[in-house]
Amino acid sequence: MRLLYIAQRAQQQRLLTKALPRFSQQNHSLSQLHRPVLPPATCKLISRRSLCSYTETHRRSIENPEEFWGEAAENVTWFKKWDRVLDNSNQPSTKWFPGGELNTAYNAVDRHVEQGFGESIAIIHDSPVSEVVEKITYKELQEEVSKLADVLVSLGVQYGDRVLIYMPMIPQAIVAMLATARIGAIHALVFGGFASKELSVRINHAKPKAILSASVGIEPNRTIDYKELLDKAIEMSEHKPKSCIIYNRHQFPSATLLANRDYCWDDVMSKAKGHDCVPVKAMDPLYLLYTSGTTGTPKGVVRPSGGHAVALYWTMKNIYDMNPGEAWWAASDLGWVVGHSYICYAPLLHRNTTVIYEGKPVGTTDPSAFFRVIHDHDVAGMFTAPTALRAIHKDDPTGEFHNKYEMKNLRTLFVAGELCDRETMDWCKEAFKVPVLDHWWQTESGWSITASHVGLGDDLHPRHGVTGKPVPGWDVQVVDKDCKKVEPGTLGRIVVKLPLPPGSMSTLWENEEKFQNLYFGSFPGYYDSMDAGIYYKDDYVSIQARVDDVINVAGHRIAASSLEEAIVHQGDIVECAAIPLKDKLKGHVPIGLCVLKPNIQKTNAEIAKEVIQSVRDSVGPVAAFKKAIIVSKLPKTRSGKISRQTVAAMANGEPFKIPPTIEDATAYDEIHLALKEQHLI
Ligand code: COA
Ligand code: AMP
Repeated sequence: MRLLYIAQRAQQQRLLTKALPRFSQQNHSLSQLHRPVLPPATCKLISRRSLCSYTETHRRSIENPEEFWGEAAENVTWFKKWDRVLDNSNQPSTKWFPGGELNTAYNAVDRHVEQGFGESIAIIHDSPVSEVVEKITYKELQEEVSKLADVLVSLGVQYGDRVLIYMPMIPQAIVAMLATARIGAIHALVFGGFASKELSVRINHAKPKAILSASVGIEPNRTIDYKELLDKAIEMSEHKPKSCIIYNRHQFPSATLLANRDYCWDDVMSKAKGHDCVPVKAMDPLYLLYTSGTTGTPKGVVRPSGGHAVALYWTMKNIYDMNPGEAWWAASDLGWVVGHSYICYAPLLHRNTTVIYEGKPVGTTDPSAFFRVIHDHDVAGMFTAPTALRAIHKDDPTGEFHNKYEMKNLRTLFVAGELCDRETMDWCKEAFKVPVLDHWWQTESGWSITASHVGLGDDLHPRHGVTGKPVPGWDVQVVDKDCKKVEPGTLGRIVVKLPLPPGSMSTLWENEEKFQNLYFGSFPGYYDSMDAGIYYKDDYVSIQARVDDVINVAGHRIAASSLEEAIVHQGDIVECAAIPLKDKLKGHVPIGLCVLKPNIQKTNAEIAKEVIQSVRDSVGPVAAFKKAIIVSKLPKTRSGKISRQTVAAMANGEPFKIPPTIEDATAYDEIHLALKEQHLI
């Protein structure tokens, strides 16, 4: 890919006014394409201003989902039109667009090229850590994706095979996702901050035929040897991939390749010819994305292809108010669902320019980085996590660094992933000088469940503490333990009445039983979000907390049980509890309360150090696990369950009630004292 330092906006303007026919594909393989009834632009105009306020749009989506999503699906190009929009006959599984065939990579790349937008910028890689700014046009992206698809096929990857991607924030990671989608294979992308052990668990579970990785990733204080981490993970894993393709980053020494397994990305790409888009069925998985739950075993959320493309396309205008051709930036990581949906798929499906940023909000090189990126790339809409904004606020409270940047194109900043405190929210509105809108998400949903719908004319200044209103398609309700709706304004469990809308997960990879029991077992007919929250009379929703043992660290979901497994792995610990402690920067950070085996001769400090290293080696640095506290006992119920939630409430100074089944309540006093001694409370 060549560097393009061009007058991007001027060029886009020229292309937009070229008035090419919208569906002028010549490619013979696309002759059966299903064309929209209305050109997409017209659909959007109608839905946005005249017919549809938010309330009307939401009502229609719930009362008549087939009509609503059938219309939305016209914005996607199908190889074969669906037989029906919705098959709801086998709840809780919902089939969207059965009979339909499409290819997500075609919709995200090729069709834009065929419609005359090949020279528009698809991706901007802004990497302060490698001092590179690279712009890639849709045409260039198409060539790369097509070639990598060819490479994958030549290495034996077929329709339905898994391809695991373990890469830093470089455009090649997006190329890898799209190339996998192009041939109807399924990608499983693993976040770079996970250690080899977590990676090996995912390799074992997804059983990828091929793995795509890179030589190194660049963190501000060090380089991460991705290849070494990958080699270790494959060594630990029972499943062995047939081939690994390694992208060598140009400024760094090349990775050592294993004969008959590893291939150099540049070498294989230089010989590749290209591969057409393969039609896949609407319900075929586009990707697996592992996320944490109550047990230590990660859950492989399966994303169905058709509904995903339809829903994500719909959101770009109706929620985020983006117009095709504008620059969009989701400052997250491709390893998380936000990255999958809003760094890669949604902006490309909608023909926006997507920014992929390889750096931190602060320290690469200073706290004005976000403002510089918005300014340099004319970003019109942005999405990030509150924790990143807290970091900027802390380092640049008065705007000394960022005030120098004008951000004349920016219209809205969206946040999600964790609670956004008022101080951060208020500061952001001042600093970015645009509405800052909180919205609520999960890996399982794939897109927001509650949001402010800017494209539907929603209020741009909702009161603090709410995460918007239920998004069309999502019938959000707040209920008590008997699944009875609670009064508006009352805290309860957030559930979603079935059917779930297009784009939400279709199952858990190779675990349909767990999918059904975990998400639909407690409240039959509803999806259990495992979040607690409040529904207000004016339809706004606020999210309060997870009700399971998931710890949200800087917007990342970490299972308490996987931390505990790593703590015990150190060797001297007989039992432990990982609990979240409030943190000014990351929202929460985990700490470990550890009970020692008898007759351990090491000091507590030595043990704590080893425990911290064990978590780092097993789970990864991203867990930000920095404190292990030795105690003599843990509060346990008569059935032996450790009550993490009450301990966490106590540690965080929140009201809590000791469950009557706790055997020895003095354990709370000891933990309280230990936390005080360590100045943690
Ligand atoms: N590859 C390898 N290691 C990684 C990594 C990656 N992709 N991402 C993070 N890490 C490592 C870091 O190097 C760090 O290691 P260290 O303990 O040796 O310093 C550790 O994981 C924690 O990193 P991080 O979470 O980035 O914390 P930080 O203290 O370095 O920075 C913030 C704090 C707030 C700047 C940072 O957490 C941040 O940018 N958060 C935004 C998160 C986000 O976008 N979430 C979106 C979910 S929607
Ligand atoms: P993940 O699946 O990693 O995206 O994490 C999803 C979880 O993050 C949700 O279940 C919530 O607990 C939390 N979360 C996401 N968005 C918000 C938000 N806007 N406010 C509060 N918590 C949120």
